[in-house]
Amino acid sequence: MNTEIKKLLASARKVARNTYSPYSKFPVGAALMTAGGKVFTGCNVENASYGLTLCAERVAVTSAVAAGYRKFKALAVVGGRRKAARPCGACLQVLSEFCGPDFPIYLAPLDKPSKVETVSLGALLPHVFRLTPES
Ligand code: THU
Repeated sequence: MNTEIKKLLASARKVARNTYSPYSKFPVGAALMTAGGKVFTGCNVENASYGLTLCAERVAVTSAVAAGYRKFKALAVVGGRRKAARPCGACLQVLSEFCGPDFPIYLAPLDKPSKVETVSLGALLPHVFRLTPES
């Protein structure tokens, strides 16, 4: 794994400390790298009205888009204790708005930083929703 990805995972791990997850007690951190190498991070932000909870990945994507970035190179997600948490379907759909099926996602558990899993967006969400499906 190259240094850039190690740094991206470190950013995801660091932002997970800012998690607001008093209900699930399940911290998640995400770090999204733009095509130009800038990094946007996000953590999960829960709410007493549970359904309003924001996932770490969507916080990272929306921060990047709000700052004017729409082209991305990689995503790192840190969550889960012994096994890495996988991004939920809603976050994968949101990522698919901006990233193709080969987009790389690096996953690591909070307690085992060296246990990194690499997956593609297409592998996690092979049947993305499109307004105009290509047959
Ligand atoms: N969570 C994320 O931040 N990302 C995901 O992709 C899945 C779940 C958060 C939401 C909630 O705060 C906690 O994990 C437990 O579901």
